[in-house]
Amino acid sequence: AATAADSQVPTATTAGVALVPEKINILFGSHTGHSEALAHQMAAQAKERGLEVEVLDMASFKTRNLKSIKNLAVIVSTHGLGEPPVQAEDLHKHLHGKKAPDLSHINFSVLALGDSSYVDFCQTGKDFDAVLETLGAKRIVPRQDCDVDYEDLAEAWQTLFLDTIAQSSGPISVPDSSNSVAAPANAVVYDKKNLFEATILEKINLNATGSSKETIHLELDLEGSGITYEPGDALGVYGSNAPKLVQGVLEATNLTGEEQVSTHNGEKTVLEALTYDYELTPLSKPTLSKYAELTDSARLKDILKDNNTIAEYLLGRDVLDLIHEEPYEFSANELISVLKNNTARMYSIASSQEAVEDEVHLLVSVVRYNAFGRDKEGQCSSTLADRLEVDDKVKIFVDKNTRFKLPENPDTPIIMVGPGTGVAPFRAFMQQLEVSEKKAPSWLFFGDRNFTTDFLYQAEWQQYLKEGVLTKADVAFSRDQTEKQYVQHKMLENSKELYDWLENGAHFYVCGDADKMAKDVDVALKQIIQEQGGVTLEKAEQYIKNLQLSNRYQADIY
Ligand code: 2AM
Repeated sequence: AATAADSQVPTATTAGVALVPEKINILFGSHTGHSEALAHQMAAQAKERGLEVEVLDMASFKTRNLKSIKNLAVIVSTHGLGEPPVQAEDLHKHLHGKKAPDLSHINFSVLALGDSSYVDFCQTGKDFDAVLETLGAKRIVPRQDCDVDYEDLAEAWQTLFLDTIAQSSGPISVPDSSNSVAAPANAVVYDKKNLFEATILEKINLNATGSSKETIHLELDLEGSGITYEPGDALGVYGSNAPKLVQGVLEATNLTGEEQVSTHNGEKTVLEALTYDYELTPLSKPTLSKYAELTDSARLKDILKDNNTIAEYLLGRDVLDLIHEEPYEFSANELISVLKNNTARMYSIASSQEAVEDEVHLLVSVVRYNAFGRDKEGQCSSTLADRLEVDDKVKIFVDKNTRFKLPENPDTPIIMVGPGTGVAPFRAFMQQLEVSEKKAPSWLFFGDRNFTTDFLYQAEWQQYLKEGVLTKADVAFSRDQTEKQYVQHKMLENSKELYDWLENGAHFYVCGDADKMAKDVDVALKQIIQEQGGVTLEKAEQYIKNLQLSNRYQADIY
């Protein structure tokens, strides 16, 4: 049944200027009715904020109506083994099909309901979340997955979504907004869709000569952009492909580079398109699939049958490896048709705007490796390391991360675990605390390979310690002794104190490698809680879960 609760909110006026209230559409796919109930609850909240709102049921939703939607809240549950509820099936299929529309005009977020006792927990919500992004929609609030007791998380997600929309639409529900500064109508807004070209002001390799690593500190100029960010946010950066990789692809496909192609960024030569508009490294599953289709390769089709063999194949390979292994006579347009559009790489911001004003700082680990007989490099990190210098420009946008923020209460102690480039947001935290002259206890765990060459921002941490902005620092240099020393070992050495900090309300932050480090840190944290709290593993897990649920355990991992 269709449920359309359309509320027409009168247009507010601010100093004689008419403001059109922002409209949101809440689209639910309900099996048991939970999603539907949440949709109506959210609609009521939206109205309270002066937003215009319409609730829609996936079961009766006309896909052509996607065209006129600007702000979309999707609330959907998962049925059975990771499948959409019947009510959501058609829309789910349509969005994943060949006729899926471009949704780049939509701001969205997904609330996923599920049951974590199933392996495919919240899979339908995950599907919608991913496909909306693939179709160009902009995720303005991260997806929230909810377990069987979903109420609190759902409410927090609704509030965040509505606040975000209300903020972007201006002071609609506030009758007297004479203090608000309206942006001039013709001001250019730089964002993900309208990238700002920032000039590189400073570029320093922080690793000393002889290091096994290359980590660059970058300072970019935001002057005139109007771009704002907060500690914990990330910066999206667009890189280009290395000339030798582009040349390799052109040679392997017998193209000169001068052939004209039509791209998502207009008509250009294939040389230019391969350099700036498409991904050549790493190789991706979509490219592998399209390549297999085009070349009709039995071997590739075989690999594509299974997610594990796909992952194994992709590892270390780039598009040139694929062309070498399965040669094909391409036209220039055919070649780009199998490639993925170039995407931004995300870096955790290493500065506080309150401290550095018109600048934004990044900490970038340069990726270099040898695989399948060639020296290779990360696309964006090598752009920054090898192909751009001070005074050159780089295309960027800010990606807000509301899930990695300093505590609202400035007296709350913070524990920061950030080995390698994971330390970036904690430099932003420190800068912020320094300018705001807040002196809550703060504790940094940093790690890298060698003390003499890899102690990133060493002088700054020492200064923060001296000033009392940073209370305590523990460092682990993994390769300075025969036994590996990691941040989690330092945590375990300080078990009692760390537990006391948590018991005193500290927020726990971890940033960096998701694959191994963050998992090991989580294990160490569990062990500390179990030992120091004298509780069972289950109780320790619950303790950690409570920290996460109350936003006291925040992770920015990649
Ligand atoms: P390694 O390279 O000597 O193994 C930053 O990259 C630091 O994180 C390095 O010292 C690196 O050590 C370390 N590191 C690697 N794996 C880790 C893990 N599982 N837990 C914590 N630190 C790790």
